[in-house]
Amino acid sequence: MTASKIASIETSEPENRSSISAADPCTIVIFGASGDLSRRKLVPALYGLAARNCLARRFAIIGFSRTPMTDEAFRKTAIDSVKKFADASTVREEECTEFANALAYVAGEYHHADAFEKLKSRLEELDREHKLNGNRLFYLATPPDVYPGIIEQLNRAGLAKNPNGKSWTRIIIEKPYGRDLASARKLNQTVLQAFDESQIYRIDHYLGKDTVQNLMVLRFGNGIFEPLWNRNYVDHVQITAGETLGVEQRAAFYETAGATRDMIQSHVLQLTSLVAMEPPAAFDATAVRNEKIKVLQSIRPFTPESIKTNIVRGQYGPGSASEDESLLAGYQGEPGVAKNSTTETFVAACLLIDNWRWAGVPFYLRTGKRLPSRVTEIAIQFRRAPHLVFSGQDLSSNELVLNVQPDEGISISFHAKLPGQEMKLKRVTMDFSYQAEFGGGERSAYATLINDCMRGDATLFDRADGVEAAWALVDPILNYFQAHKPKFPNYAAGTWGPREADELLERDGRHWRNS
Ligand code: BG6
Repeated sequence: MTASKIASIETSEPENRSSISAADPCTIVIFGASGDLSRRKLVPALYGLAARNCLARRFAIIGFSRTPMTDEAFRKTAIDSVKKFADASTVREEECTEFANALAYVAGEYHHADAFEKLKSRLEELDREHKLNGNRLFYLATPPDVYPGIIEQLNRAGLAKNPNGKSWTRIIIEKPYGRDLASARKLNQTVLQAFDESQIYRIDHYLGKDTVQNLMVLRFGNGIFEPLWNRNYVDHVQITAGETLGVEQRAAFYETAGATRDMIQSHVLQLTSLVAMEPPAAFDATAVRNEKIKVLQSIRPFTPESIKTNIVRGQYGPGSASEDESLLAGYQGEPGVAKNSTTETFVAACLLIDNWRWAGVPFYLRTGKRLPSRVTEIAIQFRRAPHLVFSGQDLSSNELVLNVQPDEGISISFHAKLPGQEMKLKRVTMDFSYQAEFGGGERSAYATLINDCMRGDATLFDRADGVEAAWALVDPILNYFQAHKPKFPNYAAGTWGPREADELLERDGRHWRNS
């Protein structure tokens, strides 16, 4: 964070995301600054950016929330969370103090004009003091029900529009972006009344994960994979986003969401789009997002009939953790959860993409809480060799697996001859590990995305039509779930979900790749 390490100042919108890496001086306002997301992810990510010289030398951060707090108190809680949650290799006392000096706090109600006048004068003061060129980034990290109030107040206070031709104003909006198609549309209308689409950054932190971005590099940065990436060679695709954690302290939110809203509509469909999209003409926001939305529009819409046969939902009951066999409560026994809750904590789905590349290739998606291991992966299962010349050998199909987390990397399985006289074959894997190749050190998805936003690069953010397309796909599923109440719980904590999830693949002669 010294002057010699300063990033250069860029004010124009980048054309192509691979060409620019510097951030502009700016003020970042975090709404919901006393909340969990801010404490665990945003403040540590901003510190990480500062420590790695990815923020401009001049920056300021204003925390805004309802809790009354002085600047000093906010600085102290911020530094506590940096020490607890930031990448330990970057945390140094001197840099913490320097970072803390850039922090300020404004307390107020999210729908009160007075609070936003206070915010405005604080912004102007910091702008003058630190010469921040009038650049502003607003981050909505509050519960979503207060988003409209904040957006209206920002607009009313004259803070939403770009103040002059040289400065920028941008807004990052956290998921969940609406709770169905109608509410997502309404939110789009509200936000578009105050901001232009080019100022709006709808965040899905999965897109900031290195391995998720690497999926595009694997496909479009190499010549050998793309020719195989279609219905002629791929038998099916499996996407798993599994967690060992339960609902933790988030019952109030999760009870109104469930796995379909929380994970499928956002993270899992994002991964699906990246796996299935056509090569974009360029690696920029317009081209990439155009291709992703085409995938969502090509997914065969769900009907009550197809939901019955292609979607399985589940909720965990009591069970035991696979690592140490400790007892785990069922979802209905978690704090804040209704005793007869019908909220799903697991979803498995089979979807079809009706286009030339993917016609007839099933995409099996699966997400759940309290599964045996934390694993997010994309597995491309190739068709078997068309003719087996090695008689008596049971040859499985080749598999390419992208491990998004926790063991980030890529592996390819194929058959090799066992040493010896006989012609015996064994399935082997070739592994690429991020950790082994590039070393450890945590890469925060939030840091990547905040930095992208500060550079005006929206490639890894959702567009209005993108979120609406995802909700349009998920809406019939939510309506069906609402109308047909399940018998829950139906899987034990620490297992891979209900039996029906296995049957979803078994009926097609396939099985899940359980890591
Ligand atoms: C969040 C969901 O968006 O993603 C959580 O709301 C989930 O329920 C989390 O636990 C998973 O993120 P990650 O990065 O830990 O896989």
